Amino acid sequence: MSDVVVAPSILSADFGHLADEIKQVEGDTTFLHIDVMDGHYVPNITFGIPVIQSIRKQTNLIFDVHLMITNPLDFIEVFAKSGADMITFHIETVDDPDEAIDKIHALGKRAGMSIHPDTPIEKILPYVAKCDLILIMSVRPGFGGQSFMEESLDRIAAVRKAADESGKDIIISVDGGICTKTAARVAKAGANYLVAGSAVFSNDDHAAAIKELLKCAMS
Ligand code: DX5
Ligand code: ZN
Repeated sequence: MSDVVVAPSILSADFGHLADEIKQVEGDTTFLHIDVMDGHYVPNITFGIPVIQSIRKQTNLIFDVHLMITNPLDFIEVFAKSGADMITFHIETVDDPDEAIDKIHALGKRAGMSIHPDTPIEKILPYVAKCDLILIMSVRPGFGGQSFMEESLDRIAAVRKAADESGKDIIISVDGGICTKTAARVAKAGANYLVAGSAVFSNDDHAAAIKELLKCAMS
């Protein structure tokens, strides 16, 4: 994936009008970022399988499901069957990352691995070549609307280097604090997939917000 893309994160959408919110971004993205939180791995709870099944009927966008849950292995299959296209788990939540990646691939889905800002970036580098997506958290996972952690730039660059060395087309995703002020810098550091929640959904014109972020990222 050479061009930079913006994946709207529905965490900041109006859940009372979720289908409408998704329709409003369909013209300007092909991806939808879906944050599943369990109140254990992160200090917040969002939504789970029934919501994903419901919105699956409403859109053909590619579902990028970001699991912020403990024991993701127990749930990978049910999320795959609920309509996820890409399934991302946190490296901190598994004993054997290879097992989780293999399980996602065996279900015919794209496998992503994410890393918490407190985890040394070196931990994820050995797995980059095996994944379809690496998600670098640029805030502490759990809530939208936080400020971008500047130290994420070096972490993105380290993953970008490993991805380039692998010779594979791996999505380098960055999640947290992406806005018009940070989009250009994360893209320059090597991210090509920008997750954005509040920057998209707090703007009444969600489509215009995506266009603006893309413009910044490509500047
Ligand atoms: C936070 C989530 C993010 C969140 C980002 O734990 O993983 O996807 O939606 O929100 P913003 O873009 O508002 O920082
Ligand atoms: Zn996320």
